[in-house]
Amino acid sequence: MEIKQNYDLTKLNTFGVSAKAKFFAQIENESDLQELFKHKEFFAQSGSANRKQNQKIFLGGGSNILFTKDFEGMVILNKIKGIEVIEDNTDTVVVKAKSGEIWHDLVLFAVERKYWGLENLSFIPGTVGAAPMQNIGAYGIELKTLLQSVEAYDIDTGTKKIFNREECEFGYRDSIFKNRLKDKYFISAVIIQLSKTPKINTSYKILQEYLEQNKITVNGPKDISDAVTIIRKNKLPDPKEIGNAGSFFKNVILTSEEAIKFLEQYPTAPSFQENLTVKIPAGWLIEQCGPTSPSLSGTSWKGYKIGNVGVHDRQALVLVNHGGGTGEEIKELAKQIIISVKAKFGLELIPEVNFI
Ligand code: EPU
Repeated sequence: MEIKQNYDLTKLNTFGVSAKAKFFAQIENESDLQELFKHKEFFAQSGSANRKQNQKIFLGGGSNILFTKDFEGMVILNKIKGIEVIEDNTDTVVVKAKSGEIWHDLVLFAVERKYWGLENLSFIPGTVGAAPMQNIGAYGIELKTLLQSVEAYDIDTGTKKIFNREECEFGYRDSIFKNRLKDKYFISAVIIQLSKTPKINTSYKILQEYLEQNKITVNGPKDISDAVTIIRKNKLPDPKEIGNAGSFFKNVILTSEEAIKFLEQYPTAPSFQENLTVKIPAGWLIEQCGPTSPSLSGTSWKGYKIGNVGVHDRQALVLVNHGGGTGEEIKELAKQIIISVKAKFGLELIPEVNFI
């Protein structure tokens, strides 16, 4: 394994913004990782941890990250692969996937074998290892409902730890790995439980409508997987064509009391009851707002373009790089969007994407 210097990251982030890593390594297996841990100049114990070159980022698909400047530490590209069934029961199977696998390849592995559970999470960009970090979710399912455990390495000591589901402290687009243990662990594998008997979840309105309109009967998980893939392709830009990182912000979660007040004031706002909370789609909030400059008054953010960056014209929650845009430009646009939504609705948008 070679450690490279001043490595170009443009192709390794789905925004396609240009940035360089001072140091760069690609790991293909867990022994590469162990070898890397031995480089004390990068993986020093606490004490020198504040030195810039001790900063580390593990990169999977680069689909949830925005580089706003060059990175002074080490970027480690995770290519650790492997998917296997580790338990085969009457009604269920337990699958272990290494963290460098492409998420959708894991979905296809399950769908092809008629294992139910992952089909609603089809076509989400990124790797398996990134999935528990933000408890990925789509079309009525969150990873946390399937996940049994996560294998991870303590970055300081190199020791392996198994986190069970509770220990991952999952929330909406959230986990312990984004909070208390941020940058402390490298996720090496994810263990999930899938069902051999049908577990159909078509509760998400857009999915239900799509199946009805196209007269699709669900015979296997592939029917749902194909539908979700088409819905996503129609609404979300393909990073190979237009740089983006999916949803840039989280949806706004209100308590029931807050939601009642909000909906009294804005009765046309879409809202979705989820347990004791109410989700207000950030895409809708952004669509109702626009740039503050007087010459652009009345313009919506949706489809707005400034320089080489902008807001996607089919899903206002997605910021895009039309080509040649910088991380700083995207960050500035995000800031203006946050300000405008706050000014109009009094609600705070929180980015889902990690800024570097
Ligand atoms: N909406 C608008 N304008 C827009 C976009 C959305 O008014 O420009 C409103 C519509 O009322 C629509 C509602 O928002 O019915 C919900 O839209 P959508 O189904 O597209 O979902 P979302 O809440 O905007 C979330 C996830 C997506 C996930 C979809 C489908 C977050 C931050 N985003 O988006 O995840 O694919 O649901 O389940 O929770 C991602 O995280 O990168 C991502 C794409």
